[in-house]
Amino acid sequence: MGRISKEFKYLGIGAAYITLNLPLRPETPTLKPFERRIFYSILQKRKPFDEYMEMCLYSRKYNGFEGGYYSSGKVIFDTTAKKGHYNTYPQKNSPLFGQGIVKQLVAMWKALDRPNNFLAVNMGAGNGIMDRDILMYTYKYHRDFFESLKYVIVEISKELMERQEGTIASVKGQDPFIKAKIMQHINFINRSAVNIEFDEPITGCFISNELLDNLPVKKLFWDGEKYHEIYVSPKQYAESSIFFCETKGRLSSSKLKDYLKFRMDKYKMPQDSYLYVNLNAIDLLQNISKNLKRGYVITIDCGKEDLDKYIKTGNIIRTYGYGISEEYEGNPYYNPGNLDIAASVDFGALMLYGEAFGLKNIGCYQQNEYFDKILLTPLNKWKRNSKYYRVLIQSKNASL
Ligand SMILES: C[S@@+](CC[C@H](N)C(=O)[O-])C[C@H]1O[C@@H](n2cnc3c(N)ncnc32)[C@H](O)[C@@H]1O
Repeated sequence: MGRISKEFKYLGIGAAYITLNLPLRPETPTLKPFERRIFYSILQKRKPFDEYMEMCLYSRKYNGFEGGYYSSGKVIFDTTAKKGHYNTYPQKNSPLFGQGIVKQLVAMWKALDRPNNFLAVNMGAGNGIMDRDILMYTYKYHRDFFESLKYVIVEISKELMERQEGTIASVKGQDPFIKAKIMQHINFINRSAVNIEFDEPITGCFISNELLDNLPVKKLFWDGEKYHEIYVSPKQYAESSIFFCETKGRLSSSKLKDYLKFRMDKYKMPQDSYLYVNLNAIDLLQNISKNLKRGYVITIDCGKEDLDKYIKTGNIIRTYGYGISEEYEGNPYYNPGNLDIAASVDFGALMLYGEAFGLKNIGCYQQNEYFDKILLTPLNKWKRNSKYYRVLIQSKNASL
């Protein structure tokens, strides 16, 4: 994400048994007492790290609690990054970023012999700026493609979906006819993309920018002999504060065991180190492949394709939002529900699983190089950090 604008800070390598005692600070925004009570009551029975992360970001299914950072719409994206919590590349580099995606989509459409119905599915759309830029640019400069294009946003947060609709509907300076035209070509689906499903397999392209690193991940600890799963529970609770701790436990699912065999079997983990496993990303990829008859997948995110570098660089968990002092940067237990938690992506796993699900890996590129090439002009904003980001292009029954 543009969320990389702060330097990575790595937490926690080296300890076999971790106990984090991190007080919630009274700075704004902080947890309301009722939110603390909910965290406490839910986590009384310890939960795997991914469930904790899900609760912080998307809590809705927990007793109707709407306090999640995304589900409640607390997140404030801001193109100036002054008032907001963080920025993303498509926002910061608007409209260039979206235009680059259009160029890619047009090339894909042509490679498929210009089908009359080309569905572009953007999963996790934030404030909808990239979508607005894509639709406007397509309408203005690629009218033939626009006529074949149906654009769908799949968004888990109802609040954000409404924001996205607002962004797209308020295309500034355009006449009502253009707005109406654009609105005819877009649909919104309020659900999790992880279990995405269409009535029939589609021809087109699944797109995500900085979605995968927001999917809840499992956290494991490797002690040199075996993996332990990390669980979270409150260590101490009071009306004004809550302290969390992590404990080691058994692997909580057979899917996780299968992943370790498939992805990690040949890799020698460093002694006493952590591994983050994004099973949601694997499920998402499998469902995309199931729902794709002919077409492509564009995945853009922070991460690495080389497993060794991915593990050893560390700094996999990042947090963003208001009022994080340096001391708490990257700490997912600080101000839960009020901050973004992101986990960098293992792109090598996406390529390996993609092949197993019938997708062909066309290429995995460094984000800045990819956009320089496709736009023939550099994305200037955050060029330096852009090298931490990847663009993975996969295809099914299609060449490029
Ligand atoms: C970091 S924001 C990225 C927004 C946008 N793509 C951008 O680059 O500006 C992540 C977005 O993904 C959405 N999201 C998170 N998990 C999701 C899921 N499982 N299905 C669909 N959307 C999801 C969030 O609500 C948010 O809109």
